[in-house]
Amino acid sequence: EGRITTLMQRMTLRQKLGQLIQADITAIKPADLKRYPLGSILAGGNGGPYGNERADTATWVRLVGEFRAVSRRSGAGIPILFGVDAVHGHSNLPGATIFPHNIGLGAAHDPELIQRIGAVTAAELSGSGIDWTFAPTLAVPQDLRWGRSYEGYSAQPSLIAAYARALTLGLQGPITAGTPLPANKVAATAKHFVADGGTEGGKDQGDARMSEAELVAVHAAGYALAVETGVLAVMASFSSWNGVKAHGNRYLLTDVLKGRMGFDGLVVGDWNGHGQLPGCTPTDCALTINAGLDLVMAPDSWKGMFDSTLRHARRGTIPITRIDDAVRRVLRVKAQLGLLDPAPMERGDPARVGTPDHLAVAREAVAKSLVLLKNNDGVLPIRPGARVLITGPGADDMAMQSGGWTVTWQGTDTTAADFPKGQTVGRAIAAAVRDAGGEAVIAADGAAAAKPDVAIVVFGEQPYAEFQGDVPDLAFRPLAGEAELIARLKAQGIKAISVFLSGRPLFVPKLINASDAFVAAWLPGSQGQGVADVLVARRDGTPARDFTGRLPFAWPADARSPITAPLWPVG
Ligand code: BGC
Ligand code: BGC
Repeated sequence: EGRITTLMQRMTLRQKLGQLIQADITAIKPADLKRYPLGSILAGGNGGPYGNERADTATWVRLVGEFRAVSRRSGAGIPILFGVDAVHGHSNLPGATIFPHNIGLGAAHDPELIQRIGAVTAAELSGSGIDWTFAPTLAVPQDLRWGRSYEGYSAQPSLIAAYARALTLGLQGPITAGTPLPANKVAATAKHFVADGGTEGGKDQGDARMSEAELVAVHAAGYALAVETGVLAVMASFSSWNGVKAHGNRYLLTDVLKGRMGFDGLVVGDWNGHGQLPGCTPTDCALTINAGLDLVMAPDSWKGMFDSTLRHARRGTIPITRIDDAVRRVLRVKAQLGLLDPAPMERGDPARVGTPDHLAVAREAVAKSLVLLKNNDGVLPIRPGARVLITGPGADDMAMQSGGWTVTWQGTDTTAADFPKGQTVGRAIAAAVRDAGGEAVIAADGAAAAKPDVAIVVFGEQPYAEFQGDVPDLAFRPLAGEAELIARLKAQGIKAISVFLSGRPLFVPKLINASDAFVAAWLPGSQGQGVADVLVARRDGTPARDFTGRLPFAWPADARSPITAPLWPVG
């Protein structure tokens, strides 16, 4: 604290205000920091270094290094913080380890695993030069029409609380004031504060209408644990509580989070979220800083935001005490990351990204996330020596199994080449079947030369992320005649095992009834081998792993939402 005080004494007002604003790499160049001494840079879901969404690790290291070098040499010489959405592993970077989305991790019910996932993610972020992730998401989704439901671990506040602690610890390690985190750790962000998962109708960025008691008991469950574990950042939600947007809610951000809960890290805004406040625009918003936001996410609006904030500070519409508090909070996080040390430790070692031991953790997580909902006559695991047809629209589709926030923002427009370290569910199953002495073919249309003993049908949702993933009800909308495909197989006397890839439980009665076995596989990510480990028995007749996953959300008995009648309850 003393060092921060000394540093702040020699900072100009411009330099201080710079610390409060964050720009996106698609809208700023390192040289801009000479004139605008911003404190932080992010790389959002769209876009990558030098306009290349598929940039490799070394290129990320170079980009972050350039921003950092300019910030160190200009103004007050304070290095920038660099943040990304590593929300299921360092998922924006081809070749990094991709984990199941949070809904699958919730099914695993395994906080120890979550802590290891945090450690792997931190090592890979740090390996690419980055020191901050916008994770964990601590949403407690109540209405699964919400397109971000899969970013939430579970409907159960107690599991969210356990995972909040585990992921924060894994990403940051234990916090000791005055001792910087080691170079293989990064700052975490508990998001989106608060009740992003409680909006009416499951509407993204909507309004959560509820009492404070419910807000505390359900939606804030993870935050107390994250704060207690020393989470360095909290992100304000786009959503509202009883009609008031979180970005402008002084009671929640200042009185509750910083006051009552004792949070002393930084509160970051969400993508131009301040611009949605009454009387504000993306380039002008004193209200959000006065409410308690410390770092404004102004991806493309940073220049205007910087200029208007300077005017507000000079005029006193933002009190200098508030500015000083915000600057101190940003600098605290930097100090904890070792960025204020005279010779800060270096992050940026591409050899740490996508290593075999990291990929093995993802494979384990995939296996543990699978939930077996039906298994007539013990059709699973597949016996050694079986002849297996692998079919369905998701049989060989990395995008479907990885979901949104993977290489691209919505997870769309990717190709197999974007997943150099992965294997699709279908290919992994085929390899495991062959290893066990059987035969396997992958045919999306379900046509096989010889009659198989059993068919694996992989199908589910197409990738989506924020707002684009909101749906009107919980009915599964088939892509390509999945029901007819299963009916055709059954008519030929072939057993059908369905592997359902989805960001949420959906009402799929016909397909469940028609299948001999039904597996909820969520959005497992790129390590399809984890699915094969559980579904396919080895030569000795046992699979490498058994099913251990349990439902993190109830499975609906009809298409209505919120769910009133579950087919299967939370496990
Ligand atoms: C999302 C956040 C994300 C941010 C930066 C926003 O639109 O709501 O979850 O961290 O963008 O990409
Ligand atoms: C960005 C995301 C962001 C979103 C918000 C996209 O262009 O890449 O990171 O969350 O916009 O609208």
